[in-house]
Amino acid sequence: MNKLVKTPYKGCRDLFPKDKREQEYLFSVMKDAAALYAYEPYDGPMLELVDLYKAKSGEELINDQIYSFQDRGDRFVAIRPEMTPTLARMVAQVHRETPKPLRWFSIPNLMRYERPQKGRLREHWQFNCDVFGAPEVLGELEVLNLVKDLLKLYGANETHFSILINDRAFVDQLFKEMLKITEEVSYKLYKIIDKSKKVSLEKLDKMISEVLDDEKAIILKNYLSLKNFEDVFDFFNIDCSLKTLYQKIAESDLLKYLKYDPSIVRGLDYYTGIVFEVFDKHPDNRRAICGGGSYANLLQIFNEPALPGCGFGLGDVTLKDFLITHDLMPDFTHPDDAIFISFQEQKNEAQALKISNSLRDLGYGVENHLSGIKINKAFQIAEKKKYSFLILCEDDSYTLKDLNHKKEIKFKTINEEVLDCLHGHEHE
Ligand code: HAM
Repeated sequence: MNKLVKTPYKGCRDLFPKDKREQEYLFSVMKDAAALYAYEPYDGPMLELVDLYKAKSGEELINDQIYSFQDRGDRFVAIRPEMTPTLARMVAQVHRETPKPLRWFSIPNLMRYERPQKGRLREHWQFNCDVFGAPEVLGELEVLNLVKDLLKLYGANETHFSILINDRAFVDQLFKEMLKITEEVSYKLYKIIDKSKKVSLEKLDKMISEVLDDEKAIILKNYLSLKNFEDVFDFFNIDCSLKTLYQKIAESDLLKYLKYDPSIVRGLDYYTGIVFEVFDKHPDNRRAICGGGSYANLLQIFNEPALPGCGFGLGDVTLKDFLITHDLMPDFTHPDDAIFISFQEQKNEAQALKISNSLRDLGYGVENHLSGIKINKAFQIAEKKKYSFLILCEDDSYTLKDLNHKKEIKFKTINEEVLDCLHGHEHE
């Protein structure tokens, strides 16, 4: 029999305790940001019918990235590659009786069949925040502020990231009024624009010339050269959500994070209005940390009336790369503070159990070593695991060692002095 490999399936991660501590930190800040904006948690199933994604997620996801199979009851099912279709399905069930705006968040793990590389894995966790039924542009404004405030909670600011933004209304205008192209060509052009900054100029020219004649190619290139809000509002001269949003944020903190970018159109088909991606400004980490936008018609796939939604997904892999790049990731090498309890002789075993339980009753985390070890060894272990306190159990008494302050207290029962010592450290 072939030996089994110890490594996880390609593009998936084993989360060892340090990795899990890091991930829990990322999640806890996400939950804090969601709470600041009163977004309520929700969750959905890992498997959905493939048809749910076929409806609006787009060809790339369905043809290249989805993990799908036929179940024992002959249903075609998929492991969720994104959360938005599940969210829309759930909102479709309850939106009639739920006050609007409805604001929900979730942190699901998702699977996409991608080529693993920096910032791209096959399994990732994604913080999703979405708002449904908000008045025009105010939902977009809220989710943009939420994502900005989230990154600020991790310690980032405008020198670290930008929110690149566009409006699909411009692209529709470009395709229908200026280029006058068919739906089929439009679909191809969306993908070309989406990739325009990721390929060389020659490759881009080639891709464009395969779908547009020379005259139209020039119009498209003029569009792709637009650099700021003034440029794009001049170029199109139409009313759209992005224009309204821009007027509303003229005086706000958000403005310094936003940058107009014609290449942001988003790869997923359901977006209809404002679309955005958060990019790291550091040249070593040129990936989108987050992507999102507005979708006016997603509920219609369930035969429900249109209820405009807007939201974003922010991946844990790209977020961690971003925080590491800017030295904003705290050190989780060692577990949180706990007290290390040890004894040398078997006869002190019961005493160690007793003090461990008394301290736990008081709410302290305690690691009882469980077997007798020499004092030197106890110090070594406590040091390696970065414990702040060591308690040695000897006949009828205990010695509490404050390892950071080289202080020790001998005691028989837990008293004020012991608690002050343990407590003092907590409040440093
Ligand atoms: P998305 O752009 O496909 O959007 O993904 C959002 C974010 O998830 C990306 O910016 C990236 O950080 C992360 N991500 C995506 N794929 C991978 C991968 N293979 N490995 C690591 N990270 C990845 C959506 O999924 C939309 N459903 C988001 C949304 C919510 N729009 C509205 N509401």
